[in-house]
Formats: sequence, C-alpha cells, structure tokens
Amino acid sequence: MMTTSPTPPTLISPSILNCDFGHLASELDKISNADYVHVDIMDNHFVPNLALGMPIFESAVKYSQLPIDAHLMIENPDTWAPVYAEAGARSVTFHAEACAAPLRLARELRKKGTRAGLALKPATGIEPYIDILNEFDMILIMTVEPGFGGQSFIDTMMPKITRTRKAIEAAGLDVWIQVDGGISRDTIERAAEAGANNFVAGSAVYKAEDAFTEIETLRSLANRAHKH
Ligand code: DX5
Ligand code: ZN
Repeated sequence: MMTTSPTPPTLISPSILNCDFGHLASELDKISNADYVHVDIMDNHFVPNLALGMPIFESAVKYSQLPIDAHLMIENPDTWAPVYAEAGARSVTFHAEACAAPLRLARELRKKGTRAGLALKPATGIEPYIDILNEFDMILIMTVEPGFGGQSFIDTMMPKITRTRKAIEAAGLDVWIQVDGGISRDTIERAAEAGANNFVAGSAVYKAEDAFTEIETLRSLANRAHKH
C-alpha cells in the first residue's frame, strides 16, 4: 500500500539561550510571531556549558504565549525528560547519544501528551533510528556541535537531513525535521531545501535589530526554498 506524508509546516523556533534574562518576559514578547520558543537546557556534562534549568524553564512557560520546545543537552534524559514534559513543554527533545532507551522514553513522553523529539549530534547518523522513526514527532539534526550559540552552520549535515526526509516520506510518516545551530538568512534556505521544516535560530533573531521582522524574513526564505 502506498502511503503519503503530509506536507510539514514551516516553523520558526527562536532559541532564548542568548536573550537578556534580566528581561525575560519582554524578550519573549519580541518573538510573539514565532511558532515555538526553543529552550536549551545544558548540564556541563553532556555539553561543556551550564545553561538554564528548571527555574528559567518554568518562567518561560509562565510568560510565553507560545508553546515551549525543550532541547535537553543533558546526561540521563531518561529521568529528566518527563520532568520537563510535566513542567509544561509542548515538545521535549533528548539526545540519542545520552539516552539509555530512546524508544521507551519517546513513548513515555507521548503518553504525557508531549511531542517527542530525538536529537543527533553532527557525528551521529540517522541510520540506527530509521526503523523506529514512527516513535518520534521530530528529529533534531544539529548543524553545530551542541553547547553554545553563535557557532557556524555545518554544511556537511545537509545529506543527513535529506536522507532523513526521504526515510520519513518512504514510511508515510508525519515527523518534523528540526535544525539547530547557525541558522540565519544565509543558511536557512539550504537547510529547507535539504528537507528541514523547523528552524531554531538564536543569535540571528536576538542579535537582529528587530526580532519580529527577522522571524518573518526567515519564515519567508524557508517557505520560498520549500517551493523549489
Ligand atoms: C546550541 C543550542 C542552540 C543555540 C543556537 O547548542 O542548541 O539552540 O542557542 O544558537 P545559534 O542560532 O546562535 O547558533
Ligand atoms: Zn538548541
């Protein structure tokens, strides 16, 4: 039987990693035209940086009108990911490299009504996960080594995005592909053409003169690329 995948929506998910945390509520207001707020959680073990955690996460849930997309760059997501789901994340993404039982964890998140995302560092392939893509709502293909904002986009990730999109389509699934790291006006079209539909942008949005306009620009560049 032939199955077809629905066309995935174009989504812009600004990362607040480099926003001004002294004014979190107004920093969130600046991105009210985005689709999700991307919150990066780092434990200084899985990545060499310590950033955010439950108190800031809870404030983001409280002050944002938008759904929250938690990106857990932490050891032992098997224990912690459900805690972020319970704290109000619409989507929780954990790293394949850190997770003991990705399939069990994805099922646990979905049971709580949260979207389940699987993240892959640049040197991690999609191949071991091809047969269980149906267990996830999103695959996050990192386009930098996770840990810091403001790094350069790694172009050699494009074939992995394309292979993942092809596998999703071949299986007739509705799975989003997110890219995170170095997404800007200069790179978003390449990622969209390769098959990504959910774009995390940290410095591109928060260093722009006007975050709202930047989000509109990024969205229209991605939409244009998808039409080609
Ligand atoms: C990096 C984080 C990103 C980061 C992106 O490890 O996962 O979400 O904030 O920042 P930019 O867009 O500046 O690369
Ligand atoms: Zn992130």
